[in-house]
Amino acid sequence: MSKNNQVKWWVGAILFIGFLLTFFMDLTGLELHQWLGISVGILLIYHLLAHLDWVNAVAERLFGGTSNRARLYLLVDIIIACGFGFIIGTGLLMSTWFQIPLVNYDFWWSFHILFSIGTLIMVALKLLLHWRWIVTTFRKSRMVQRRNPVIPAPAQVAVNSSPIGRRQFLSVAGMIGIGTLVAASSALKSLKFIQDAQTNVYAQEPPAPTYESQPPQMIENTAPPISEPAPTSAATPTSVQATPTSAPVNCTVRCNHHCAYPGRCRKYVDLNNNNLCDYGECL
Ligand code: HEM
Ligand code: HEM
Repeated sequence: MSKNNQVKWWVGAILFIGFLLTFFMDLTGLELHQWLGISVGILLIYHLLAHLDWVNAVAERLFGGTSNRARLYLLVDIIIACGFGFIIGTGLLMSTWFQIPLVNYDFWWSFHILFSIGTLIMVALKLLLHWRWIVTTFRKSRMVQRRNPVIPAPAQVAVNSSPIGRRQFLSVAGMIGIGTLVAASSALKSLKFIQDAQTNVYAQEPPAPTYESQPPQMIENTAPPISEPAPTSAATPTSVQATPTSAPVNCTVRCNHHCAYPGRCRKYVDLNNNNLCDYGECL
């Protein structure tokens, strides 16, 4: 079998495994997650370059003499490429490398996770579309490795050319399906965490003021610093009630999960040792 195909098989396998691993941040930690995501991106560029001839050939004959299957492959590849563009773009925005103070961190986080799940589904579909190639290339590579001089060549050919059927399809689809489901459910758990965190934040918000002359203000990202002790009703009972919208307007909170030690998110930092994440405190 061609060495080229063998390399392509391994690149595809490493891409898929690397991609799946980025869904398990409990395993990798944030720093490795970021490097893994970037490495998958770089390997994807190599993967695309290895198929550039195919892309050019299909693109040239897109509206003419190419098959619908080739068009479908191209469409799936374009969707996956856009998906990775968004995932890596949003990942870099949130990353610990640039420390960009994002106004709505949760939005970008949700976006990052939703695109990861969507792209994962498309990658699984792409691999299923290529299941025959995956099985034949794998078989041929095993044949090359296990070539036994005792077995006559015709016997090897017979094993190699035994028909590829439902069983092979089911084993490829099973492996891809299990990997995809486990990774997607891990990402969905993270999404649920964001929703719970948001619910907690809303639950902590003060009740909307009822003064007619003073319309309620948005308090997201203008929340008072959570490091400050909450005013006790005994000490300042009237000031809290009289000025319900007096939260400092210039305060920027980079993350509103309000994590207490040790924090659910991997960005947890507590330089002022108040057991609250610095990202949730007023800048
Ligand atoms: C984790 C993501 C990906 C995996 C696991 C993957 C895997 C594969 C596999 C197994 C093949 C068929 C065998 C081959 O000829 O190499 C293939 C083909 C191909 N891939 Fe990917 N790929 C991924 C992402 C991408 C992306 C993002 C692009 C485009 C930017 C792309 C472009 C192509 C092209 C052009 C082909 C040949 C045409 C086709 O069959 O679709 N792939 N890929
Ligand atoms: C292959 C591409 C990637 C995929 C599939 C992916 C997927 C994910 C998922 C599922 C999460 C949520 C994990 C959890 O909370 O358990 C996440 C979070 C995150 N990812 Fe990615 N990611 C990718 C690439 C990147 C890259 C390249 C970067 C930055 C360089 C990055 C930065 C982040 C950051 C900062 C978080 C949020 C961490 C937190 O606040 O807890 N990701 N990613």
